[in-house]
Amino acid sequence: MSAVRKLSDQVTLPCGVVVPNRIVKAALTEGLAGGDNHANERFVRLYRRWGEGGAGMLITGNVIVDRTHLERGGNLAIDGAQSNEALSSLAAMAQAAKAHGSLIVMQLNHAGRQTQKMINKHPLAPSNIGLKMGNGRFATPTPMTADYIEKTIEAFVHAALIAEQTGFDGIQVHAGHGYLTSQFLSPLSNRRTDEWGGSLENRARFLIEIIRRIRARARKSFIVAVKLNSADFQRGGFSEDDSATVAGWLQEAGLDFIEVSGGNYEQPRMINFDRKDPLAANKRESTMRREAYFLDFVPKLRKHVSIPVMVTGGFRSAEAMERAVGEDGVDFVGLGRPIALDPDAPKKLCPAR
Ligand SMILES: Cc1cc2nc3c(=O)[nH]c(=O)nc-3n(C[C@H](O)[C@H](O)[C@H](O)COP(=O)(O)O)c2cc1C
Repeated sequence: MSAVRKLSDQVTLPCGVVVPNRIVKAALTEGLAGGDNHANERFVRLYRRWGEGGAGMLITGNVIVDRTHLERGGNLAIDGAQSNEALSSLAAMAQAAKAHGSLIVMQLNHAGRQTQKMINKHPLAPSNIGLKMGNGRFATPTPMTADYIEKTIEAFVHAALIAEQTGFDGIQVHAGHGYLTSQFLSPLSNRRTDEWGGSLENRARFLIEIIRRIRARARKSFIVAVKLNSADFQRGGFSEDDSATVAGWLQEAGLDFIEVSGGNYEQPRMINFDRKDPLAANKRESTMRREAYFLDFVPKLRKHVSIPVMVTGGFRSAEAMERAVGEDGVDFVGLGRPIALDPDAPKKLCPAR
């Protein structure tokens, strides 16, 4: 009989790194940087506190690889050469996060068309398709040139190598929630007719290329992860079938774990914003009871990947988390708002540590 899987289990990732338990702090944008978008004492304090809480792994809020495309003011940004001061602040942040045994993974992002006008009036994106939000906060984007696409892939790689240099255990590329990489994946926002658009293979090329290059250039034991939408929940958008197929390609490219989320600014399913699921007919009653918004997708995903799977969104009770791990094949439980409210939640859920 196989042993019962528990939240307190250690998990060994494909790169060989051992995660001390299955609770992961999901990315929560901090907005704590000054005008230089560098780490500072506020990040150090925050991550020391979260590290004390006992999560197996802490994923940072999104760190932007091109400061002209911040997700919001106050984001950390790593683009171009980094000053000694910027490097040592990042190193202090990583060290503080790890002081009590947690791993720290830096989330990398580029907001693309979801860059607000007050940050950039002329954002770049795969195609000139603006957000349908009608509140005037976002400009219609300009399509990226092939040259800028290549530069942006390298910007992700550069930021990943800075994370490695400053003591982070790995990176996670944010390929969900409608940001740039997710814009490439969706046929609604990517109407390109070159090698970066059209077929799913072409739409996934941007993300796969980033992962392939980071895997090739970082040390073998560096964690390389992706946060991927199970779906955009928009008709004609990135679907569950697309997502499962892309996940299989990511595994081939050397991924260590995949985090499942969903939605975007137009359809904010990741935080269950309006508590209305446009595709509710597909939702099983058992899933509603199990709290997590995207659990139904795991069996489909499992047909394509054997790497560890993290599910984030909606977990609130220890019972639902234990069940997801014990019965639903989830390897990591991602917690966002619960850990913001109670930084000691992981310790309470995994009293062994
Ligand atoms: C204030 C806030 C900031 C967030 N920032 C990010 C982010 O930077 N990157 C990201 O991938 N998700 C971000 N998310 C989404 C969370 O990682 C998570 O997917 C979502 O909150 C659902 O999980 P929960 O129900 O445990 O909060 C954010 C959510 C909130 C509420």
